[in-house]
Amino acid sequence: MKPTTSAIHAGVHESDPHFGSVVPPIYPSSTFIFPNAQEGARRFAGESAGMIYSRLTNPTVSALETRIAAVEGAEMCITTASGMAAVTLPLFHFLKSGDRILAHKCLYGSSFDLVNRILPRYGIACDLIDFKDTKAVKDALKKNTKVLYFETPTNPMMEIIDMEAIAEIARNAGVISIVDATFGPAIMQEPFKAGIDVVVHSLTKYMGGHSDLIAGAVLGSTQLLKPMFKDLFPVFGPTISPFTAYLVMRGIATMGVRIKQINENAQIVAEYLESHPKIARVYYPGLDSHPQRALAKKQMPGGYGAVMSFEMKGGYTAAEKLVNTVSLFSLAVSLGGVESLIEHPASMTHSKLTEKEQLEAGVLPGLVRISVGIESSEDQIKALDTALNSL
Ligand SMILES: Cc1ncc(COP(=O)(O)O)c(C=O)c1O
Repeated sequence: MKPTTSAIHAGVHESDPHFGSVVPPIYPSSTFIFPNAQEGARRFAGESAGMIYSRLTNPTVSALETRIAAVEGAEMCITTASGMAAVTLPLFHFLKSGDRILAHKCLYGSSFDLVNRILPRYGIACDLIDFKDTKAVKDALKKNTKVLYFETPTNPMMEIIDMEAIAEIARNAGVISIVDATFGPAIMQEPFKAGIDVVVHSLTKYMGGHSDLIAGAVLGSTQLLKPMFKDLFPVFGPTISPFTAYLVMRGIATMGVRIKQINENAQIVAEYLESHPKIARVYYPGLDSHPQRALAKKQMPGGYGAVMSFEMKGGYTAAEKLVNTVSLFSLAVSLGGVESLIEHPASMTHSKLTEKEQLEAGVLPGLVRISVGIESSEDQIKALDTALNSL
């Protein structure tokens, strides 16, 4: 099935054997009754698929995991209480003291913090490099490098990292490749087809789609993920609530049409912004001006998504004025929801970076990031046009 079909049907039938409801039921129970001691022992020994305790498994959560695995084309999915829990889990699983992680230099703020500040506390060293330069990635591999970690598209510059090339480098070096594909679910791009080992997602964004939940997912082969689930998951306890799992399932069902509309609107908005005299530069993979346009077309056949950033000619003052005055685009972080959002990366999402790190990542003071929603694109343009012309 195509991802848009799995997003509606996967995980439904097995989730309600009693009544056959078309919507997976919510099982709020924290614990599950064993019919007898022998079955309880079998469940603990992993010889029975029966439920034990909701920190570990829950029927609503399992239905969601079946659905996301089908949508993303993975053997196994582990959902988590947040996108950051999904990023943290595989890094702690695949790395131990004395190992190194090689990561793209531009990462989501908390992920940057994790690899640069938190992991070194546990004796795990981090090398940051520009993953657009695949030769540099190869050259930066050391004997104890165990993980290649990156996001694509990146935040907020919408750089595209060549997943096939990185997966090949990882395979040849015998290391694990992990991509945070939050900015491009499988409807847009397919990391597993490119040969990536592990994919993480913040379900908070496109999958939930309505800015009403926080959740995450780790995807990969059963061989890679099952040991992680048995080993770290029960100890860390980053479990998603069954109520949130239900909301994500509801959100995913409409992801196909939402992303279609988002792609259409975002392209219109990007072209409009690029033509505006107060804007110096727009970063969106759907524009011919994008430095990796050819790679974007090849790697993202399902479109480029909601997020774009642009550089105001008037610098910080103009950027601040714009985010304060524009209507319709709410001044808030996050992305991939039905509503349009606007934010100022240098003072908000990327404020933890030093000035030098911001400059290296392209986060200039006049940069503005937007996430285009599914409102009428005419209203979106009207709101931006009114605000830009008032500056
Ligand atoms: C690329 C990326 N990864 C991870 C996260 C973290 O996700 P969450 O907020 O669900 O923990 C975010 C949040 O914005 C993100 O943009």
